[in-house]
Amino acid sequence: MSPDRVAVIGLGFVGLTSAAVFADLGAKVYGVNRNLQKNKAIQMGKPGFFEPNLTSLLKKVLKKGSLTATTDLALAVKKSSIIFICVNTPSSESGAIDLSYVRDVALDIGKAVKPSDGYKVIVVKSTVVPGTTEKVVRPILAKASGKKSRKDLGVAANPEFLREGSAVYDSYHPDRIVIGGGDSKATSFLERFYNNMYPKNTPPIIKASTATGEMIKYASNAFLATKISYINTLANIATRIQGVDIEVVANAMGLDHRIGKLFLKAGPGYGGSCFPKDVKALIGFGRDIGYRAKVLESVDHLNERQPCEVIRLAQNIVGPINNKHFSILGLAFKKDTDDIRSAVSVKIIENLLSEGAKVTVYDPLAMNNVRDKFGSKIKYGDTPQKCLKDSDCCLVLTEWNIFRKLKPRDFIKHMKNPVVVDARRIFNPEEFIGKMRFSAIGLGLTSDAEEEERRTQNETWEKPALAVNAIVKTDEDELVIVKRSNHPFQGYWSLPGGFVECGETVEQSLKREVKEETGLKTNPGRIVGVYSDPKRNPEKHVISVLMEAELVSGALRKKSREISDVKTVSKKSLPKKMAFDHLKMLKDYLEN
Ligand code: UDX
Repeated sequence: MSPDRVAVIGLGFVGLTSAAVFADLGAKVYGVNRNLQKNKAIQMGKPGFFEPNLTSLLKKVLKKGSLTATTDLALAVKKSSIIFICVNTPSSESGAIDLSYVRDVALDIGKAVKPSDGYKVIVVKSTVVPGTTEKVVRPILAKASGKKSRKDLGVAANPEFLREGSAVYDSYHPDRIVIGGGDSKATSFLERFYNNMYPKNTPPIIKASTATGEMIKYASNAFLATKISYINTLANIATRIQGVDIEVVANAMGLDHRIGKLFLKAGPGYGGSCFPKDVKALIGFGRDIGYRAKVLESVDHLNERQPCEVIRLAQNIVGPINNKHFSILGLAFKKDTDDIRSAVSVKIIENLLSEGAKVTVYDPLAMNNVRDKFGSKIKYGDTPQKCLKDSDCCLVLTEWNIFRKLKPRDFIKHMKNPVVVDARRIFNPEEFIGKMRFSAIGLGLTSDAEEEERRTQNETWEKPALAVNAIVKTDEDELVIVKRSNHPFQGYWSLPGGFVECGETVEQSLKREVKEETGLKTNPGRIVGVYSDPKRNPEKHVISVLMEAELVSGALRKKSREISDVKTVSKKSLPKKMAFDHLKMLKDYLEN
């Protein structure tokens, strides 16, 4: 069968764009999706999400008859010689990837392949951790199809690098094509397909082992995420001192060919469906094989906290958030998309609401998605100007071009108190400073007075810290304790727990900390005590909240960070020496 008859399983963002572009470049494509309604919409040229140029391309290939959307996976497999798996690989609760869709589809494909069928190659385009294609997908296919020989059934990994907002362009002009394949027949088959698709400017084709192919995708995304967290780290230093502008720093750095200027734009943190998930998946993968990817842990940690930097900049100007009215310009995780998956805007809105602020938002495309999430908890402006109306502070969170046209007078005219925090560096600070209160990610302080003022304010923001510790009961009598190996708690047993991160509720942080330290899943229970003991960590004036958490499931195992041991003890045999005041706190609890 011709290698140009292909099936694309999964018509999400990657699947549908690839299917439409292959169909335009000369392949006969069967796009498979379980949802009949969605397929009907696709057949009418409606992708179901916003992506520049995709609708017109879809209409073109549908008219040409080179793309068909169907629910019939077996038919698509029968008619095709290359079957691309393009289903989602979401994060599981631990951050590791959830392969259930990939497994399900592999099984369905395996069942659909008939012994009499000619040679077929099953290609994993979904982002999967190294080893998945050979160790998970191939065995499922072989068992379900009965075709054990590589001569009859090929398997390859072929990761996709397209970006939202420029997915169609990227698919026509890939920087490189990566083919990870364990057998040369499958690799050559796929290479022939791509040579046919891009007959003129064939992109470099990298042929590698399957696991290497899979790794290239993670390596690329995690590196780009690292570049962003790196520049954000420098930006956060810049905003605490006088006179440094991170934009100028990044431009100068980028002129060094070894560094490159792309992905050095400081901002409110990366979002979207790939970077946050892929960085976490690589950390989780490392952990599962006994390696702690500390660089990536820091990249992820910094990114989780970066939205707090935006709020910190706002607080520096407007003071406590409670009862303030915030206008948010930009909700999508980046411009030219309506996608709000892992968008910074969502984290910031949640944080502002939990602090008692009023929020009004505007985005050219993502309003409906945000409305589905927040409903009447926030207000929606039809235009940037209406969004700004009567607000105390404006946060610019997405770099949409229409926002660049706004001038200081627009903010002064519409806002109650004109204050702008430019988290995307779309404005020229010189135009704003002096006319209104203005702050931006990575923009240094402008005077000694400002430095002094902000230094005092920062102290109130950083402190006091809230610590949470949990009494995790495995049954009525037993509870879980952990031994810490970090200074100054080294060697002491204590209750699992840690600190509340910015933007988290006490319950959320407790659940996260217990899971990170012990691997146990818990349901946060009731607060059993609030302790304020300046001796405990005088520098931070720690206030400790002790909770009684209900154990959901999971075996005991030490999981992360500074924990050297985890054990279950009877309430009657608590260690005599426990870190800080935990013994006292526990006794209070047990006695009441
Ligand atoms: C990314 C990869 O670029 C792509 O190759 C892969 O296939 C999927 O993941 P995408 O998520 O669509 O693509 O967006 P991208 O343009 O990479 O941006 C991701 C996030 O990083 C956005 O939130 C963006 O605003 C942020 N970003 C990007 C920065 O904060 N600074 C930068 O310099 C670049």
